[in-house]
Amino acid sequence: MAEIKLPENSRISTGKTFNAADNAKNKRRFVIYRWEPDSGANPRRDTFEIDLDSCGPMVLDALLMIKNEVDPTLSLRRSCREGICGSCAMNIDGTNTLACTKSIEEVKGDVKIYPLPHMPVVKDLIPDLSRFYAQYASVKPWLQAISATPPDRERLQSKEDRAKLDGLYECILCASCSTSCPSYWWNGDRYLGPAALLQAYRWIADSRDEFTGERLDELEDPFRLYRCHTIMNCTNTCPKGLNPGKAIGEIKKLIASRVL
Ligand code: SF4
Ligand code: FES
Repeated sequence: MAEIKLPENSRISTGKTFNAADNAKNKRRFVIYRWEPDSGANPRRDTFEIDLDSCGPMVLDALLMIKNEVDPTLSLRRSCREGICGSCAMNIDGTNTLACTKSIEEVKGDVKIYPLPHMPVVKDLIPDLSRFYAQYASVKPWLQAISATPPDRERLQSKEDRAKLDGLYECILCASCSTSCPSYWWNGDRYLGPAALLQAYRWIADSRDEFTGERLDELEDPFRLYRCHTIMNCTNTCPKGLNPGKAIGEIKKLIASRVL
């Protein structure tokens, strides 16, 4: 039987432990993935004990408390603090989600935090999203039209057509869905992944866009689109409650219907 092991330099060791003050009454342990590329050392898991009575309610509050008061070298991305910018996506308690909208109370036991899975790590909780953004750019996420822009107003659409964009335009490009998808883990260099495909469908579904045929041509490919095997991890994990799996299904239906 094949024995599959992580390469020697990828094995995660046990790191340091930082205890809360003895008089802390509401202690909780945060076990956090750490990796410093310049150290040459293997990744490790550090444990930080926090007094929840002096911390905000969200996982991001705890991470910032750790960074500000215990270990300033802890690296993570965050900006808006309210589920809008998408930058604080990470794997918390086994699920990809946003640290700023994930309540500590929802997690039972130690709060285990890792970077988004199956992506190269820049440092600690920061994944390298270069390829993810290149894939987003490849679907040309802007309105394309050949007809002249009306001289005196914007391009309008009916309320019904506008409603077709609901569930699509809200995507904040956090990458939680793509990095939860086994097809993306194995074929991320050729499969666009659920986030880029949801964004592609956002423009295909837009009544003002005049390049639907070209957009479908670009996607009609055994890898770019059809590596989606409807596993639906993407939809289950999306912290904004969106349904990338359905958007991918709609693209497949449009491609199928135009050859009938
Ligand atoms: S579809 Fe959801 S999980 Fe995927 S990038 Fe957009 S907001 Fe994040
Ligand atoms: S900090 Fe912006 S989504 Fe979490």
